Amino acid sequence: MRVRKAKLCDAGEIHALMQPQVATGALLPRSLAYLCENIRDFVVIEDDEHRLVASGALHFLDEDVAELQSLVVHPRERSRGLGAVLVQRLLRDARRYQVWKVFALTHLPEFFLRNGFTRTTISELPQKFVRDCVNCPKLHDCHQVAVICDVYARGARRSTAHTAMPVAARPAQLSASPLAILQ
Ligand SMILES: CC(C)(COP(=O)(O)OP(=O)(O)OC[C@H]1O[C@@H](n2cnc3c(N)ncnc32)[C@H](O)[C@@H]1OP(=O)(O)O)[C@@H](O)C(=O)NCCC(=O)NCCS
Repeated sequence: MRVRKAKLCDAGEIHALMQPQVATGALLPRSLAYLCENIRDFVVIEDDEHRLVASGALHFLDEDVAELQSLVVHPRERSRGLGAVLVQRLLRDARRYQVWKVFALTHLPEFFLRNGFTRTTISELPQKFVRDCVNCPKLHDCHQVAVICDVYARGARRSTAHTAMPVAARPAQLSASPLAILQ
């Protein structure tokens, strides 16, 4: 098994992996076009035959908050810890981007509570409510539970080398940092 960032050519396989869960209502539908446009959000796990067996996404909502979306593990590979691996990888990515909080809306709060999240309410997530929930046909009949994970303690994330660096030192140092983020 290998965890890696998704490539554009993975979009079709991610779509196929998600479809049965979309049919049960566990996942929101995502078109192939949406997946292509947002493929940089996705992390995948591939097995030794290079088949995708799991995927999930971290979608930035504003400069503080990101949503963990479209988390799915192929049914034959469940209960082996792959879901937890994906969540930890996406939280690591959130840390690299200095996201303050990561949340999810889910029918499976137990899974997220085991992985460092706590329960919250949609009223604590105005970014999500204004952007998506107000237009959702299930607005008044929503059974999803909001869960959230503090990636950084308030005030901690801004104390990075980037902002603290002397101006004269920036060009050389910055040339390395985007590559580090993309790895
Ligand atoms: C949720 C999901 C990604 C977990 O993947 P996984 O690889 O099985 O996760 P892990 O092995 O790390 O953890 C499994 C644990 O999560 C919890 N869990 C998973 N599915 C559960 C369910 N339907 N009901 C209650 N708890 C569940 C259990 O504690 C389980 O432990 P167990 O196997 O000992 O019972 C996978 O079940 C899945 O793809 N579900 C369908 C899509 C979905 O619902 N995604 C989440 C929407 S945000």
